[in-house]
Amino acid sequence: MKHLRIADFSMAVVDRGKGATLLLVHGFPLTHAMWQPQIEYFAEHFRVIAPDLPGFGESDAFVGVATMEHMADRLAALLDALEIRDRVIFCGLSMGGYIGWEFWRKHRQRLAGLIQCDTRVIADMPEVAKGRRILAARVLAEGSKVSADAMLPKLFGPQTPQQQAHLLDSVRRMIESNSPAGIAASLEGLAVRRDARELLSQIDLPTLVLVGEYDAISTPDEMRGIVAAIPNAEFVEIPDAGHLSTLENPLAANTAIEKFLTSHL
Ligand code: MLT
Repeated sequence: MKHLRIADFSMAVVDRGKGATLLLVHGFPLTHAMWQPQIEYFAEHFRVIAPDLPGFGESDAFVGVATMEHMADRLAALLDALEIRDRVIFCGLSMGGYIGWEFWRKHRQRLAGLIQCDTRVIADMPEVAKGRRILAARVLAEGSKVSADAMLPKLFGPQTPQQQAHLLDSVRRMIESNSPAGIAASLEGLAVRRDARELLSQIDLPTLVLVGEYDAISTPDEMRGIVAAIPNAEFVEIPDAGHLSTLENPLAANTAIEKFLTSHL
């Protein structure tokens, strides 16, 4: 990994391969490592940029409210620091997708395409936001394990625990390696994120929407609604996968992403 100093902040990033840039933005409360199957596969033909978001992995811890807008601005600053001037394909999963809407809102001139995986456009309902704040306080008091315990049961499709038990271990390790301060700052940021529905009809970029067949957080039905609101968006449902579709079924996810990239680039 590279460690880049951007103003007063250190950001860790995998930078592999050559070609058009594919920016992979991880979900909550994970790290760039959730993209390992995509990094390996796409670095053959693309420049793959997979950062640890502020407060996660080896990037500097973030204290306060890590808003989705702030994360989007950090990613734009990261592209500057890497001297990437050409338009990039932004691929985000879940929280990465929430950041994707904000990246479109503020930095759309940097985008060549958008891949939104297992994500939502609506803001949190008040009781959901309250639950996040309660979890943030517990994570700060008791440690990152609390957030692994809260998230793990929701992340995978029904077959994954039996058929790919190693993924549960590696995702737990990923979550527990994150600092309580970073996780709490993102929970506060998720709780105040903006509703992005009004943006959808304006999105005039090639857009691919992916969802795991059994995603219980951002369901296939909800994601079909997102696709219907974006002009010309394409939709692929990933079989045998839940919320972490790209990790649970990388063969199907990589095939869908590759088909999208080759037909639009
Ligand atoms: C994620 O995977 O990033 C989270 O499930 C997002 C959320 O909790 O809304």
